[in-house]
Amino acid sequence: MYKLVPNYSLRDHNSFGLDVLVSYWLTISSADDWLTAMLNYPHIYQEKRLIIGGGTNLLFISDFDGLIISPDIFGISITYQDSHFVEVEVGAGEEWDDFVSHCVQNGWYGVENLSLIPGKVGAVPVQNIGAYGVEADSVIVRVKGISLETGSSFSFSHDECCFGYRSSIFKERYAGSLMVTSVIFKLKKQGELMMDYGDLRKTLDSIGEPNLVNLREAVIQIRSSKLPDPKHLGNAGSFFKNPIVSEEVATALEELLPGIPVYQLSDGFVKIGAGFLIEKAGWKGFQAGKAAVHHRQALVLVNTGGATGKEILDLSEKIQQDVLTKFGVLLEREVQVIEE
Ligand code: EPU
Repeated sequence: MYKLVPNYSLRDHNSFGLDVLVSYWLTISSADDWLTAMLNYPHIYQEKRLIIGGGTNLLFISDFDGLIISPDIFGISITYQDSHFVEVEVGAGEEWDDFVSHCVQNGWYGVENLSLIPGKVGAVPVQNIGAYGVEADSVIVRVKGISLETGSSFSFSHDECCFGYRSSIFKERYAGSLMVTSVIFKLKKQGELMMDYGDLRKTLDSIGEPNLVNLREAVIQIRSSKLPDPKHLGNAGSFFKNPIVSEEVATALEELLPGIPVYQLSDGFVKIGAGFLIEKAGWKGFQAGKAAVHHRQALVLVNTGGATGKEILDLSEKIQQDVLTKFGVLLEREVQVIEE
């Protein structure tokens, strides 16, 4: 079943809460619906296209003159299991955190550190979401979907998805042309908890014994204390990526900015804390009109109420320029800017 709505407000479909319009909004509940909709409304095939999940990583600068497709494809089903592992296929339209909760309740290990990340399952491989030392691709074994160009289906193995830090072929090479319809995750029935990131272990200790349920609770507590809830304050989580620099640059920055968070990567590069750089540059809590830098987490830009996408973008560009001037580091956006 599909539904096509012209001139549709995206206010409830982007976590910045921006009141912009899209020319055509298409919801589909199966891969076949795409073909049916195209046969019945061939003119929309010509439109500029965007696939949307929860809209939690998008910044709309203006109305979107084109077609937005929302894959409302549901279902969580076990496709394989033995005494060690379970493989679960999850529809693109499922809320990510509902799935995490489902895993924790069933005693399946692997996604508990990714608790409370807003958004839908379809966006998880696109963005390769990550938090507290875990990236989603560590549990993704297969991604299924269709080509919006040809209507043919694909089923990619983990390696075919070319996952990187917050990236994949769905975000890069095939952006807007391959639509994810379901993701297969492989979870462990007996596992180890990953507690080494930041304050996780300390928070977990304060909750109780180290188990899946308590780890999820610890992540929820940390996230809720640092990150604003988009239902109350429009935001898209981290606005910038944590920059990856050479070891020489990282050493120089550590001398300039003692205490800067650095995470050693395997290939001689180092990931550094963008939030720390933004805070040291003096932007934490800064407000420009209705756009602001969150007072508890400088990596998050917020809509204090009635901001335009342009206002938020302008603020982000000022921060980029200032951090570049002060520390010589170019901050790359994590949020995707959508124009017209
Ligand atoms: N920090 C500051 N000032 C700030 C923000 C952070 O000094 O304003 C310092 C913290 O004190 C800490 C370090 O930077 O030492 C790291 O901070 P945090 O643990 O809050 O994580 P992050 O690097 O700011 C990344 C992800 C988040 C994810 C957290 C936890 C990116 C771009 N962001 O943020 O992801 O939740 O780690 O793993 O990688 C998201 O993508 O939307 C998101 C929220």
